Amino acid sequence: MPRYADSDKEKVREAVDLLDLVSKRTELRRASPGDYKGLCPFHDERTPSFHVTPDKGMYYCFGCGAGGDAFKFVQETEGLDFVGSLESLAQRYGIELTVEDEDPAAAERRKARERLMELLERAAGFYERYLWESAEAEPARAYLRDRGFTDETLRAFRVGYAPSAWDKLMMAGRQGGYGNKEIFDAGLAVRAKGEGRIYDRFRRRIMFPLCDPRGRVLGFGARALGADQQPKYLNSPDGDIFHKGEMVYGAHLARSAAARAEEVVATEGYMDVLALHQAGMANVVCIMGTSMTDKQVGELAKLGKTVLLALDADSAGQEAMLKAAKVAAKSKLALRVVPLPKGLDPADVVQQQGAEAAKALVSTSVPFVRFQIERELERADLTQAEGKDAAIAALRPIFATLPPSALREELLAHVADAVDLAPSLVSSWLPMAGERPAAAPARPSGGGWSPGGSRGGRGGGGGGWGGASSGWDEPARPAAGAAGPLARAEGDFLAQCLATPDAAAEILATLDDAAFSGDAMRRVVAHVRAHLHAPQEGLPEDDKMLAGAVAKLVTKAADLAPSRAALQGQLANIELLRLRREIDAAVSSGTGGVAALRRRRDQLEERRDTLIQQAMEETAPSA
Ligand code: CTP
Ligand code: MN
Repeated sequence: MPRYADSDKEKVREAVDLLDLVSKRTELRRASPGDYKGLCPFHDERTPSFHVTPDKGMYYCFGCGAGGDAFKFVQETEGLDFVGSLESLAQRYGIELTVEDEDPAAAERRKARERLMELLERAAGFYERYLWESAEAEPARAYLRDRGFTDETLRAFRVGYAPSAWDKLMMAGRQGGYGNKEIFDAGLAVRAKGEGRIYDRFRRRIMFPLCDPRGRVLGFGARALGADQQPKYLNSPDGDIFHKGEMVYGAHLARSAAARAEEVVATEGYMDVLALHQAGMANVVCIMGTSMTDKQVGELAKLGKTVLLALDADSAGQEAMLKAAKVAAKSKLALRVVPLPKGLDPADVVQQQGAEAAKALVSTSVPFVRFQIERELERADLTQAEGKDAAIAALRPIFATLPPSALREELLAHVADAVDLAPSLVSSWLPMAGERPAAAPARPSGGGWSPGGSRGGRGGGGGGWGGASSGWDEPARPAAGAAGPLARAEGDFLAQCLATPDAAAEILATLDDAAFSGDAMRRVVAHVRAHLHAPQEGLPEDDKMLAGAVAKLVTKAADLAPSRAALQGQLANIELLRLRREIDAAVSSGTGGVAALRRRRDQLEERRDTLIQQAMEETAPSA
């Protein structure tokens, strides 16, 4: 890190126009002479409490307490350290910095580095112009259009095109006064085996400049255009300037949105970042398909207190999530997981389902621990007692990390629901953080999970509303849609309520919210009751879970025929599931009364089946 002369700081301060600098982030109005006011760029607010006094060269927010001078402002808004802010401002306001006490070798290295950075910047411009201006790039332009990207998005990310010839970039570089070695060192050329002749590394590819948090180009990711080209993505090699594992892609464009939202979305690939950005979520970066390094988690943590992992559910994605969790456990970083539909990445979701669906999906993120628990429950065959025991055994280490909390209680209820056993029982088997549980169910002798591995083979409520037909347990389920049979049945009931609002109003008026499983589900019930005819209205802005759950219900309801019998059948189904839980609890605690409960269960089963039959007849298309 170079050392700059002390006087440089004052020179830069003099040159900076604070009003102009801040105005790039928020609109300012004159409040009184010498005092300007606007919405604070550091926190979300509706009435301006952010002040700038250019004469003093200071800013201050009465809302959140953020304040300082121009250097501080640049550090905070661009995530730089002091020297970074000095360099950045010097460059913007045309001040030449003087480096002090630098030994000649270090000076040499710094200059060489500066030249490489300049070369990379020029290369980015070269590829960009090629994309927009050359005839050869027409297929690339068509491809990007087909994928739904607007010119505005492509220009914001400075997407470019590398021509197919072997030496176009080399020639441009040489014309710009750069030597072969420099072009090679910048990662823009490769050397032919044997002869040592060098030629362009990137040819016939769509170019994504990879920038540091200040937006300076460090390297490129290059996507093949033809199916004949391997690999699909070719990146700059790691070198003096570019280190793939140390950066996330898109940080410079995500920073301010992430700071305001206090959260950042981490995806796998370049296309995901562009697509979500275009869909209106600017707080998105990607880890470039890596397995997630400690450094990358650090970069994510600089962008937001909460990281939403929107990674593939494949093993590589899962590994990346576990890696992130390991690092996050040592810091204050909160991790959440965005459940992606099977086989789709975020870019696919945007293209196939639209921007709003992508936003709704991101809003259904669940705490990381919830995701882990879900994974264990999905692996086990919960229709068998052995499977339930195996699931509980697998969940023990996860619960052992959870201190007493509302989240823990919610998760416990969820697990009890999924294994269809009394919560008190399940709770007694799962350890609290720092606690050693007395009794635990014996591990099944077979060890591990049932070999048949019937994924999702949870014993549903039978009838037409059991597992497969529900759709409530698809990967994109909202947080309230706990995938246990009971929560699933509750979700199905609520969707039917929306499809049959008048009958639902009567029925919901007689129901006790407290009987629904979990706080999240109770919020959904309360909302549905109050907004049966317009469920998308009146959603509180700060309840993303609710918005996601309601969106899901509305989609589902659109496919349902109105039917009072169906509604009553759903309700009977819920009662039945609750009753089954009661029976299990009574059996395992030995509290008697089991026979009576079983008789009621049988009656209820019959009633439910009659209602289902009736509903099917009612809603069958008339011949
Ligand atoms: N990647 C890489 N090198 C590869 C393959 C992938 O660096 N050989 C990185 C890229 O950053 C890529 C990300 O991993 O964006 C995810 O890869 P993949 O899912 O295969 O590509 P997508 O980004 O989904 O691209 P597309 O939708 O165009 O297939
Ligand atoms: Mn993709």
